[in-house]
Amino acid sequence: MPLVEVAELEKSYRVGEMDVPVLRGINLQIEEGEFVALMGPSGCGKSTLMNILGGLDRPSRGRALLKGQDLGRLSDGDLARIRRDEIGFVFQSFNLIGRISNLRNVELPMTLKELPREERRDRAEELLEAVGLGHRLNYSPTNLSGGERQRVAIARALANDPSLILADEPTGNLDQKSRREIIEIMNELNRDGRTIVMVTHDIETTEYCSRVIWMIDGRVQEEPS
Ligand SMILES: Nc1ncnc2c1ncn2[C@@H]1O[C@H](COP(=O)(O)OP(=O)(O)O)[C@@H](O)[C@H]1O
Ligand SMILES: [Mg+2]
Repeated sequence: MPLVEVAELEKSYRVGEMDVPVLRGINLQIEEGEFVALMGPSGCGKSTLMNILGGLDRPSRGRALLKGQDLGRLSDGDLARIRRDEIGFVFQSFNLIGRISNLRNVELPMTLKELPREERRDRAEELLEAVGLGHRLNYSPTNLSGGERQRVAIARALANDPSLILADEPTGNLDQKSRREIIEIMNELNRDGRTIVMVTHDIETTEYCSRVIWMIDGRVQEEPS
C-alpha cells in the first residue's frame, strides 16, 4: 500500500457565486521513503494539494488517502489526530511562535499528546540538537536568522515522529547558504527513512529528490524517468 494515494482529486473554492476549480482531477501515489519535489507555476494548486494531504483542508471530490485512510471522510476530530500524529508541516513563513522559546515551540505539538513533561523536554532538546541548534534552546525564534528559524520549524515538524513531512517552499524565504543547510537536513531526514513532499520553485533544491511531480493548472504531469 502506498503511503499516499490520491485519486481523481478535485478541489474548488466558492468565491461569491462562483465555484472556482483549483485541483482538476489529480492522481498520484507516494511510497514510503520517497523524497518528492512538487513543482509548477505559482497558482497551479501546489499549496492546495499539500493542505489536503496534511489534513488542513478537505477535497471537494475524489480521494486523498494516507496509510489507506480516506482523509475526506474522516471526522474533524480524526483529521486533527492525523495532523498531529502523522504529518509534519514545514511552511515557507516558518509559523513559529515568537514569544516563547525554541524549546517550547518544539514541545508544543507534544503537549497535545499528554506525554510526560520531562520526556517532551528531552525530545525537543534532542531534535533541536539534531538540527544544529543545541546552543539556542532558550532563545526565541525572533532572535534567530531565517535559516535557523526554519531549522526550529523542522524540529517541531518531527516532534510527534510523523509518517509524512510536507514542506511548502521551505527555502522560499532563505538566502543561498541557509537554503543549502535546509536541503542538507531534508536529505538527512530522507536518508533516515522519512517520506518527504517538498514544494519548491528552485530546481537546485531538488538534487536529492527521488522524483519531481510537475503540476500545471490543477493537474499533474509526472516527469518521465
Ligand atoms: N481559500 C481560497 N479561496 C479561494 N481561492 C483560493 C483559496 N486558496 C487558494 N485559492 C486559489 O487557488 C489557486 C491555487 O492556489 P495555491 O494552491 O496556493 O497555488 P500554488 O501553491 O501552486 O501557488 C490560486 O488561484 C488561488 O488564488
Ligand atoms: Mg503555494
